[in-house]
Amino acid sequence: MTEWIGTANQSYSPYAIEELRRIIDGVTFSQLAAGEVFLMNSPLEREETLQAVHQREPIFLRHIQAVDRTVEITGDAEDMEQLSTVVRSASQQFAGKRTAVHIRRAHGTAFIHSASETKAVIDAVLAEVGAEPVVQQPETIIAIYAAASTLYIGFGSPQDMLSDWPGGAVRFQREEGQVSRAKFKLLEAERAFGLHYEQFRRALDVGAAPGGWTSLLLERGLRVTAVDPAELHPSIVDHPALTYLKRNASEIKLKPGSFDLFVCDMSWSPMLMSRLVLDLEAALAEEATAIITIKLMHRKPMQTIREVIVKLESVFELKKAKQLFHNREEITLYLQKK
Ligand SMILES: C[S@@+](CC[C@H](N)C(=O)[O-])C[C@H]1O[C@@H](n2cnc3c(N)ncnc32)[C@H](O)[C@@H]1O
Repeated sequence: MTEWIGTANQSYSPYAIEELRRIIDGVTFSQLAAGEVFLMNSPLEREETLQAVHQREPIFLRHIQAVDRTVEITGDAEDMEQLSTVVRSASQQFAGKRTAVHIRRAHGTAFIHSASETKAVIDAVLAEVGAEPVVQQPETIIAIYAAASTLYIGFGSPQDMLSDWPGGAVRFQREEGQVSRAKFKLLEAERAFGLHYEQFRRALDVGAAPGGWTSLLLERGLRVTAVDPAELHPSIVDHPALTYLKRNASEIKLKPGSFDLFVCDMSWSPMLMSRLVLDLEAALAEEATAIITIKLMHRKPMQTIREVIVKLESVFELKKAKQLFHNREEITLYLQKK
């Protein structure tokens, strides 16, 4: 029997729970933060639970951490001492390793210390036990979730936790003159799916306006054909590597086999989007990579996703489906043309 904390995007935890129920027999759940963070009791051991989660990674599970230790919060300085003792007593797990400390505080927690204050104290303990406190590219993570009256502490690798960001909340720096926030979705997809956009040559971006995704692909040196009846941002519209088709995607004709990357962020009815994607399929080269968002329009996201995947699988192999942190009422598919 092992205990875990799971996290999904706001209001999507019921779907993450539904998926986990399907992959682990006999799991039970209780809520920690409404619609978002939950406690999971797995009848399996740690490694078996992780294996189950990784084999069929739930679309809506953004982050998972084991609960290795708990500390009852007293609401005074003693909590920090207890936390330090817990980390010190597990020191053999961190010695010589790049170790990050991730702290999340639930709304209304009795834990009085801020995340940065807590991190500073734990980092000092880590240095004392011969670990290397880091922020980026950790080998191991100490994840601390401060709930109402309990600190849940878990140790694991970024792979175990499905993310190297606290709670899977990936943050990117907003740039001066950034065309749209949507750019973050494509950046996060690149990390989540282990892609390197600069390795592609020609991209087709359908539903491209105002042009966040197109601007990212242009920055990476790709030639981009952007399709959208709406206006592209003036800062990219004259880019020499851009072809802008200011039209509905159903009206365009493209040369067969010309694109090795297809991206589509139409926020449109999932079924119409799938049909449109299949109509454009001939324009993609064999084994072309596709990144597509699916808008979750009604109350049955799992069914919508299944239907879209079944349709797209006539032409594509599904590599991964994930609700990314930057996805709102949608998920992102990573596919490869067969
Ligand atoms: C969420 S926005 C895309 C944002 C874009 N990824 C970015 O980074 O700026 C959705 C876009 O899809 C476009 N769209 C919807 N249906 C379309 C269609 N049938 N053909 C082409 N574009 C379409 C809309 O005009 C809208 O600009």
